[in-house]
Amino acid sequence: MKSITAIYPGSFDPVTNGHLDLIERGAKMFDRLIVAVLRNLDKAPLFSLDERVEMLTEVTRPWPNVEVDVFGGLLVDYAQRRKASVILRGIRAVSDYEYELQMAMMNRKLEPNLETVFMMPAVAYSYLSSRVVREIAQLGGPVQGLVPPAVEQRLRAKVF
Ligand code: PNS
Repeated sequence: MKSITAIYPGSFDPVTNGHLDLIERGAKMFDRLIVAVLRNLDKAPLFSLDERVEMLTEVTRPWPNVEVDVFGGLLVDYAQRRKASVILRGIRAVSDYEYELQMAMMNRKLEPNLETVFMMPAVAYSYLSSRVVREIAQLGGPVQGLVPPAVEQRLRAKVF
């Protein structure tokens, strides 16, 4: 029987309820879902790679077929190493589409056998992003309901 492994790549700085919504949908659809955090040496993240992995590991515990990992280099090479045939990405609004289309087409050019699958999070999360969450937290605003409680705690500890 065919078993499908999907990769959900991103920065996850930090993981939001929108990401979690997508993880839940992906975990139902695919046999195995690897949430892969990009090791990006250019960006200065709010949370270190280890912190992001720790938070993701904690909040994805309810799904036994979800794994958290770190990757560097090209996503298509990582997908090949992990024997994944699908890349999962979320699209919140039309504004996401152009960037996502470019990435999906480029990945297809690099590896034609790797499919990108887009899913929409619940409408309640359509305005949510890690960047907005970081900004609200750094300016002392409430992030309750935007991120899992464990992330909320870490954000509070980080900005005070
Ligand atoms: O959540 P993000 O930050 O929008 O995720 C972007 C990510 C990690 C999916 C993208 O930057 C990526 O795949 N980087 C790996 C390098 C790569 O393969 N680049 C070519 C894809 S066009």
